[in-house]
Amino acid sequence: MLECAQVKRKANFNMSKKLIYSGKAKDIYTTEDENLIISTYKDQATAFNGVKKEQIAGKGVLNNQISSFIFEKLNAAGVATHFVEKISDTEQLNKKVEIIPLEVVLRNYTAGSFSKRFGVEEGIAFETPIVEFYYKNDDLDDPFINDEHVKFLKIADDQQIAYLKEETRRINKLLKAWFAEIGLKLIDFKLEFGFDKDGKIILADEFSPDNCRLWDADGNHMDKDVFRRGLGELTDVYEIVWEKLQGLK
Ligand code: TMP
Ligand code: ASP
Repeated sequence: MLECAQVKRKANFNMSKKLIYSGKAKDIYTTEDENLIISTYKDQATAFNGVKKEQIAGKGVLNNQISSFIFEKLNAAGVATHFVEKISDTEQLNKKVEIIPLEVVLRNYTAGSFSKRFGVEEGIAFETPIVEFYYKNDDLDDPFINDEHVKFLKIADDQQIAYLKEETRRINKLLKAWFAEIGLKLIDFKLEFGFDKDGKIILADEFSPDNCRLWDADGNHMDKDVFRRGLGELTDVYEIVWEKLQGLK
């Protein structure tokens, strides 16, 4: 049951809701507070920059549950994030940020585009996890981008680049340990960061099986590769991930 004050707060936030951005997996709305936004998780799955697209009932609820849970744990562990609170099955309240147009990918094991690009099998552990940047630009198909490119495009300076990498490695240590505890191997993931109202870089976007790879003890894919590669029902595996995560509480 929501507390009375919470119900009132939620009603106020919803009253001034105006769509400001519609993404592939989430819609973003304004609130009465200019520093807060509402992220609404959609029942849509896409892959290959939207080339493959399907409506999957229940996906939005599951991803909101999983992402809220992970972000709450990250906040509690002292990571600066945009997450404020989960306000309904499909919605969460987030700090408004100016998104840095980089997809920060961390790889603990070879997989996906890394395996394809370098012709190596999937599942080989890196001694030191690899951090990569992709330029977040749908028209250009999110190309691979290096530090020099990031600086040339004035996306981030040396100090900010170093911070993004260090913070991503720190977050990886936390996530890897949590997933290991529930029998899942964190193969790789993608993060997005943004500048908050004070110009501080904080973790934004989401963390769900949409933007990471998780393998169980038998090597089964417990993430969006199920959809990308047509391996089964996406919500069946996301449900298992959610059930396992609740065991962490
Ligand atoms: P990749 O192997 O296809 O480069 O993907 C690396 C990780 O990033 C993987 O966990 C999936 C995630 N990812 C996204 O979240 N969004 C994307 O657009 C892509 C291409 C990958
Ligand atoms: N996020 C991209 C898309 O929505 C690609 C992917 O996740 O594979 O199309």
